[in-house]
Amino acid sequence: MSKILGNDASEKRLATALGRIGLRTPLTVASGTFDLESLEFFDSACLGAFVCKTITMEPKKGNPPCRLFETKAGLLNSIGLQNPGLTAFIAEKLPQYREKLDIPLIVSFSGSSITEYCQMLERLEASGGISGYEVNVSCPNVENEGIAFGVCPDTVFKLTEALKGLTDKELCIKLSPNVSDIAAIALAAEAGGATSIALINTLFGMAIDYKTGKSRIRRGIAGYSGIGIKPVALALTFKVAQAVKIPILAMGGIYDWQDALEFFWAGASAVALGTANFINPLAAPELIMGLAEYLLKKDIYLRDIIGGVSF
Ligand SMILES: Cc1cc2nc3c(=O)[nH]c(=O)nc-3n(C[C@H](O)[C@H](O)[C@H](O)COP(=O)(O)O)c2cc1C
Repeated sequence: MSKILGNDASEKRLATALGRIGLRTPLTVASGTFDLESLEFFDSACLGAFVCKTITMEPKKGNPPCRLFETKAGLLNSIGLQNPGLTAFIAEKLPQYREKLDIPLIVSFSGSSITEYCQMLERLEASGGISGYEVNVSCPNVENEGIAFGVCPDTVFKLTEALKGLTDKELCIKLSPNVSDIAAIALAAEAGGATSIALINTLFGMAIDYKTGKSRIRRGIAGYSGIGIKPVALALTFKVAQAVKIPILAMGGIYDWQDALEFFWAGASAVALGTANFINPLAAPELIMGLAEYLLKKDIYLRDIIGGVSF
């Protein structure tokens, strides 16, 4: 790794940006799939930024088990946004991130109303040590009959616009794939003042034990991630990249540097590893090593590839 990072030529090839944050490498970790303990396996320098698990205003115990199931083509999860809540996050987690991370920290958060999102952002802004925000909009809006924020362009526009006025930091809106027109949602986020888009969050998925007829996941429908969603994530990345001018942080079934390259061709400026982290704790450094070697061999820069898919 030190041969790659700390080597000026390779670093220049890998460098990218997510809106207001310059990234040393185009790789982050997907919210909820990686925490500080996982950094014991490798040098965080291979990551351009660190995205934490989504936090909510109040603590959440999460859903009852069984809440994880590995399918033939990816993972089902029904964690239920388990997290310590904003107050404990600021008091206990944030100091640990500040101490242990020497890369930009992007805080993922989620609210139950536009007012609550704004209150959370104000408290995070007052805390320091944060480079940007990933706004998780895959959650019910109590002010709109519990319909998820991320499915309605008008709501996404209003939410982004309200948040934009409260921060000068990176403001990334993370989109759900469970919508009819993801480009319309991305455009609404951009019009509202988002500085980047992250996509995709999990698809809906379900698994049933064929012998007993019992749902593999206690709550029934779960979030589907990993290898099986890659073609969907790639198509949605391409679709959104065609629609917006702001950079895209893409994820969904990326396991290695070859997968990552496909997303760069489709228009992503950076990518995140999610489910892959559970399968291979060294997926991140391996991805960056492979990508750096590829760029060097081809004598190209990452920016030469982004959005360059041909037909
Ligand atoms: C166990 C698990 C927990 C997750 N928790 C969150 C979360 O808290 N917030 C969020 O925005 N996405 C969450 N996600 C979604 C991932 O960040 C990512 O968008 C999705 O899994 C697709 O990427 P992947 O196929 O590489 O895993 C979670 C995914 C998994 C598998």
